Amino acid sequence: MSAEHAVGSTRIEALAPDIIRVRYSPDGRFPAERPWDVLIDLPPTYPDLIEKDDTVRLAAGALTAMLDCHRGVVEFSNDAGMRFAQDLEPPGTRDISGDETRIGHDIELPAGNGRRLVKLDKAMAADESYLGFGQRTGRLDRRHRCLTHWTIDHSYPGHSRGDDNLYQAHPFFMAVRPGFAWGLFMYSTWYSTFDVGAEKEDVLSLSTLGGVLDYFVFAGPTPAAVVEQLTRLTGRPALPPLWALGFHQSRWSYGSDAEVRAIARGFRERAIPLDAIHLDIDYMDGYRVFTWDKDRFANPAETVAELRSLGVRAVTIVDPGVKQETGYAVADEGLADGHFVRHPDGTPVVGYVWPGASLFPDFCRGATRDWWGRLHRALTDVGVDGVWCDMNEPSITERPHGPQRPMPLDTPQGGEASHAEVHNLYGHMMARATHEGLERVRPGRRPWVLTRSGYVGTQRWAASWMGDNSSWWEHLEMSLPQLASLGLSGSPHVGVDIGGFYHHGFDELFARWIALGAYYPFMRNHAHRDSRPQEPWAFGHEIETIARDAIALRYRLLPYLYTLAHRAHRTGEPILRPLVYDFPDDWMLHQVEDQVMIGPQLLVAPVYQPGVRRRLVELPAGTWYDLHTGARHDAGPLIADAPLARAPAFVRGGSVLTLGQLRQSTDEPLTELTLEAYPAEDESGHWTLTEDDGDSLDYREGVIAETRYTVAALNAGGGLAIGERTGRFEPHPRTLVVRLHLDAKPAGLKLDGKRCDWSWQDDRCVAELRLTDDGRAHRVTPVRG
Ligand code: GLC
Repeated sequence: MSAEHAVGSTRIEALAPDIIRVRYSPDGRFPAERPWDVLIDLPPTYPDLIEKDDTVRLAAGALTAMLDCHRGVVEFSNDAGMRFAQDLEPPGTRDISGDETRIGHDIELPAGNGRRLVKLDKAMAADESYLGFGQRTGRLDRRHRCLTHWTIDHSYPGHSRGDDNLYQAHPFFMAVRPGFAWGLFMYSTWYSTFDVGAEKEDVLSLSTLGGVLDYFVFAGPTPAAVVEQLTRLTGRPALPPLWALGFHQSRWSYGSDAEVRAIARGFRERAIPLDAIHLDIDYMDGYRVFTWDKDRFANPAETVAELRSLGVRAVTIVDPGVKQETGYAVADEGLADGHFVRHPDGTPVVGYVWPGASLFPDFCRGATRDWWGRLHRALTDVGVDGVWCDMNEPSITERPHGPQRPMPLDTPQGGEASHAEVHNLYGHMMARATHEGLERVRPGRRPWVLTRSGYVGTQRWAASWMGDNSSWWEHLEMSLPQLASLGLSGSPHVGVDIGGFYHHGFDELFARWIALGAYYPFMRNHAHRDSRPQEPWAFGHEIETIARDAIALRYRLLPYLYTLAHRAHRTGEPILRPLVYDFPDDWMLHQVEDQVMIGPQLLVAPVYQPGVRRRLVELPAGTWYDLHTGARHDAGPLIADAPLARAPAFVRGGSVLTLGQLRQSTDEPLTELTLEAYPAEDESGHWTLTEDDGDSLDYREGVIAETRYTVAALNAGGGLAIGERTGRFEPHPRTLVVRLHLDAKPAGLKLDGKRCDWSWQDDRCVAELRLTDDGRAHRVTPVRG
């Protein structure tokens, strides 16, 4: 529906029963769709339209928008009649200069809509927490903050708690009050801001350049529902190959093939699991993308093959800046075929990055994305498995080593936009070009892309890390709200540089960080070239043992983590999330940000301060089991032991945690699957394990295997029912180890009603039984004495 009113036109559209789009234009003109839109086409929906006096109600199902046609203000309500997101005034517009933004000093905004700011104030409920907002430092709840959406390379000395915008832009949040959550995505790829009650208490201001306001409201009613709605609209997260969930080792840079091989062998000699080594910029010939240095990496195919024989994959960095040099094929071809961004006068935009003067592909052009994608053959032909897109904010300086500046905002891009309009999409479109390119040059195999910059929807194309952190306790701590916020913003495959990038890592910090990193959705150790070595063995024997155990735990958890990746791919469900996601009704947990959930079954409460050997843990409602000792705890505050060797972690009663045997690489088949059944007090619990071949695209045709497990409540015996395996994927032959966590030693165990051999582990109160996994249904029941 569309309505003209005193200050312009408002268009309201129901995209789904639980998603409504509102667009406002002061002159009644709305921009055409862009070929690079991040929106997914949703099936049509048929809302009710009720007109009465001066108001129009659009009732979509779970969500109703009400427009006051006279005043031009909108408000929303859910199916329980709860009102939210009420406009306080009609939207307003005014022209601004670059200095009024945080884009940078003396930045000229392009004429017309490029300098027209639209602003809308909405009411904030006093009891709401404001979460999401993508990649940020600072606290989980962003009330009282003013937040900018403009991708930048926040380079040396690195980011800190008080920063505003970083490498990615997610103009999205969810508001959570006890019993209800709703979400809002401001669909602006221009410079935009959210003032979350900072300037005026309880007033939320949405502002954007571009002259038009466009936003989606999501009905919730839970944080999980909001993430589902956001990713239904902007794309579900890509399913990574299994190896990508393993451990990655990186450094700027492993500068020669000999060094890379030595690192891989170092892991194998020390029996520390590893799936990938990242090659930073020095593998290239003078930082020319899609080349190899002829001396230091004389035979990349051989090097990569040797890594593969050790069960290790190579991931190579690719920056968007293409060295401006005649005779360099990528530059010549790109110039000849019009792939680089040009100034309005037709001369190519040149900026400085690692290779010196560089040219920048216009990823908004389909032909440029195809070209860029094809260039990846130079990497995949030698066996590279993953691509790491860096510096794609894009990070540019105007002169060598000068300050960062965006490319001139009036440069045309994609044939129909200015850089000002699509700046925030640069990294997103590069990640998309890379993902689609890998799909084309390696048909049938899953692409794996890691990106530094991104926008809402980048989850379809890439995993991401949080850029250049430091080896500081503060940054270990900060990683929790940072990754949790990205998870709530639709981006589940995230991690930070374990051990810290800038500055020198040290023993205690590294031990704590790797223990926590075992639970990061993306687990990579990476460090700056000037910092001390940071491989797991770099800090002496004790820390090496701790690191080996942490990485081993990661590998044991892989069947669980991989199922979480499938769940993320289906519904957007974050892997690492704040407690409020799983326990939205417990108001006391809304602000907890130093404990996180890893999927619905595991709670992790790491130590993030020096010298600390125990910590306070808030256990939400239910029964909990210490992952490391098996001890059972009730809900409420707990002082948990936290020796240096581990991060306190707890399993929720009603869970069946699926663990694999210890492997050195995901190349090794899963030959043993352990089912750790943790009963709740008086309710049964379920878990469905999802498996597939871990690398192909056959899962799209349903070649997966699913097995549902049911753990009976403790007061009903605490037994485990294994469902019949369904689906067309046939796992490797394996043993099942069933472990029932009980409250007392039973007289025996029955398998399908018959007494069977079993063992009892007294210190953990666990009854164990081994059987061959035949894919059929089985029932394991304790015999009470
Ligand atoms: C950037 C990246 C960092 C990388 C370095 C060199 O700072 O964020 O991860 O090591 O560039 O390529």
